[in-house]
Amino acid sequence: MDYFLFLWYMRLLVDESFTGIKMERNGQQNLAIVILAAGKGTRMKSSLPKVCHPVGGLPMLSHVFKTSRMLLPKQIVVVISPNAPEVEKLILDSYPEVMIAYQTEQKGTGHAVMAGVQALRNENSDVLVLYGDTPLLQASTLEDMLALNSDVTVMSMRPIDPAPYGRIFLDSNQRPNSIIEAVDCSEEQLKNNLSNSGVMRISGMHQKFLLAKLTTDNKQSEYLLTDLIQHAYEGGLKTAHYEAEASELLGVNDRVDLSRCEQEYQNRLRFQAMRNGVTLIDPQSVTFCHDTQISKDVTIQPNVFFGPNVQVAENVTILSNCYIEGAVINSGCTVGPFARIRPGTVMKSGAKVGNFVEIKNAHLGAGAKVNHLSYVGDSDVGEKTNIGAGTITCNYDGFAKHKTKIGSHVFIGSNTALIAPVEIGDNAVIGAGSVITKTVQADSIAVSRSHQHELPLAAKRYWQKKSTAK
Ligand code: UD1
Ligand code: CA
Repeated sequence: MDYFLFLWYMRLLVDESFTGIKMERNGQQNLAIVILAAGKGTRMKSSLPKVCHPVGGLPMLSHVFKTSRMLLPKQIVVVISPNAPEVEKLILDSYPEVMIAYQTEQKGTGHAVMAGVQALRNENSDVLVLYGDTPLLQASTLEDMLALNSDVTVMSMRPIDPAPYGRIFLDSNQRPNSIIEAVDCSEEQLKNNLSNSGVMRISGMHQKFLLAKLTTDNKQSEYLLTDLIQHAYEGGLKTAHYEAEASELLGVNDRVDLSRCEQEYQNRLRFQAMRNGVTLIDPQSVTFCHDTQISKDVTIQPNVFFGPNVQVAENVTILSNCYIEGAVINSGCTVGPFARIRPGTVMKSGAKVGNFVEIKNAHLGAGAKVNHLSYVGDSDVGEKTNIGAGTITCNYDGFAKHKTKIGSHVFIGSNTALIAPVEIGDNAVIGAGSVITKTVQADSIAVSRSHQHELPLAAKRYWQKKSTAK
């Protein structure tokens, strides 16, 4: 290959815009990430494995994969139970580079790490242990922790309620010398709120030796990863802790935790949106999806929900009570109040969708208006076309969906039914109340409704007759 072409190709590979990863990140040259996700998650009371439950519309485990990818490790291994086909499918479909290690029996966090380490191709890698049920942890926080020079580093936190967490004890040099699980702590020890997040980095040189030291000789009869700290300390190795925000380390055990995680994540997305120039009148009432893209000078009124795959361009206004998914909304559009925008919707610039309108798999041309009480599905609507109140595109015949094509500068009168497949040419006018079954040519007026009859003075006779009968 030509040298410059080669350079250009390499640039493509590393360029931020292609990989989504900042170029200043050099990657962790000798790092393997082991993600623990084999736990049963019984407290979720769900037939779906815990780590598949979504936060911001994305499975918890996918959040952890995304964060792991950003660190550019040599390998990512996830430890799962052999009876979790949903987890396997998630990995194979979306994260094929992640290796799977099976833990047939759940014999503790230490045991799970052993299973993960066995699957590593490079035995000398440093091992970073993450949990599949702790989705909010950010790559930048992990990078700061990894920068510490030590043999074993544990990520600590001071949560408001430390009750369920293992406690980290420090020597006079602030080096951790043990972690004791809450159930094993004395009352005095429970006063220490420096808590174990579960995140740990073990240097490649020592991991084999340290893992081999773990036993099941404890109350839980499990291999506790936490015991590794004491073994390292007593073995003269350098231990350290890195204290991170407890809010980033929220773990999910049940649905209450799940909702806390969701709120924390939503707040992150809301702040991000506002800092990027989006006005949220009532931030707490707006729900974003992990992949929602919103440009600056967009205003969002209260009670708006974003499902997956929505892009909103500059100067769009979204009025109250809208449900929006799978849509591209271009600049200057207005949506709502009370609109439902479904997948496959594209609104070109300046288009308007008003109250009680549903749009599905439809393109609305620039400046097109669907302002009231309509259903527009499987349709193309040209620019500056006005769709009157109560218009329905009848796209479904009970067996298949059909297309409605409406040209530009068309006027569709109120309460019109367009029986698809059907086409309306540019500049056409459709009389209100029509049922349109055939093509309407450009520049035509089409009306399809019964003629109006009038009987002069008949009403007067009617009322007289009725009142004399009383
Ligand atoms: C663990 C820590 C505790 C810490 C807390 C933070 C230990 C012994 N305790 O407790 O100090 O404060 O996390 O949340 O490490 N898992 C497996 N296989 C197993 C057991 C667990 O894959 O055999 C996975 C789980 O799916 C989960 C993670 O490991 O993702 C943590 O397990 P969990 O049982 O929730 O640990 P905790 O009791 O919360
Ligand atoms: Ca837990």
